[in-house]
Amino acid sequence: MSIILLGIESSCDETAASVCRDGIILSNIIASQEIHSRYGGVVPELASRAHLQNILPVLDQAFLKAGISLADVNAVAFTQAPGLIGSLLVGAQVAKSLAFSKNIPLIAVHHMQAHVLANLIGGKENPGTTPDFPFLCLTVSGGHTQIVVCDSPSLMKVIGETTDDAAGEAFDKSAKILGLPYPGGPLIDHYAASGDPLRFKFPEPQIPGLNFSFSGLKTAILYFIQKEKALDPDFIENNLPDICASIQGRIISILLNKLKKAASQTGIKNICIAGGVAANKGLRKSFEENGKSLGWKTFIPKMEYCTDNAAMIAITGYYKYLDHSFSPLSTTVTAKAGW
Ligand code: KG4
Ligand code: ZN
Repeated sequence: MSIILLGIESSCDETAASVCRDGIILSNIIASQEIHSRYGGVVPELASRAHLQNILPVLDQAFLKAGISLADVNAVAFTQAPGLIGSLLVGAQVAKSLAFSKNIPLIAVHHMQAHVLANLIGGKENPGTTPDFPFLCLTVSGGHTQIVVCDSPSLMKVIGETTDDAAGEAFDKSAKILGLPYPGGPLIDHYAASGDPLRFKFPEPQIPGLNFSFSGLKTAILYFIQKEKALDPDFIENNLPDICASIQGRIISILLNKLKKAASQTGIKNICIAGGVAANKGLRKSFEENGKSLGWKTFIPKMEYCTDNAAMIAITGYYKYLDHSFSPLSTTVTAKAGW
């Protein structure tokens, strides 16, 4: 008998649903919320309202695309944490309602674990294209930056994380300093492609162990831009690709230096990246180049599985289903990241 999972993601500003059968993704529908760009960041109350508007059409599309009806679904997985509380509540309430009305198991999924397990998508269809256990994962998103040892789909340990801003925040806040709209990460990526990463030097923080820090970099960028603009009011316009390439280059070197340290400390050679910042073209390229020279087997999810999506929730739900790791309908959502 096939196992059909419905996955729902609503932790921040993407409303998403995905259907997976026996670990194979059949649909992956995402409604992004454009409204936040005019405010320079996600406005929680507006996000919750947009989730309410989007969730049912997104579910309908996910079923339609998959050629599956609700009656066929064996379990419903949803993002329980971390995230914006009002946003999480919408997805959780829909998941609980479906599980209750169909009398099928409810599966609570941790968003950051799901980002890691996005690396397993595609493995059923194309064996050998996804990492064997154990693997290391550098998870880089708008809210988190972590290095995780993954021994199995249910056994993961965070061995390094940011002590302040996340890598995605470093991109977004730098972009804001440059006057670029939110989310600025993809725009820095875009301009960096034609810039010189060695033109401007930004400091690499000296943080012990496997932890990260990005707040000093942000401050250094702010002071640098203020100083240069005092000399040339058009400094940003005249140098945008080089500024973006230099900022991006430094964020990438901070990330990859810690990842190399983690790989050497653990001796693990299967190495993955995940999360929204893993969509960054410069990071993808440097990661693969480093992996080649260090003898790693490198894995990166497809772009659509890097930024927030429900396929990663469905695949995590699938493995939790195999473990009978179900949640009661009384399960609550939480904004906190602990796992
Ligand atoms: O994983 P994600 O979609 O949502 C969270 O869980 O936070 O990550 C969103 C973050 C944002 O900070 C966004 O600017 C960043 O990922 N991002 C990128 C790129 N695409 C998304 N950063 C750099 N380059 C990109 N191409
Ligand atoms: Zn995310």
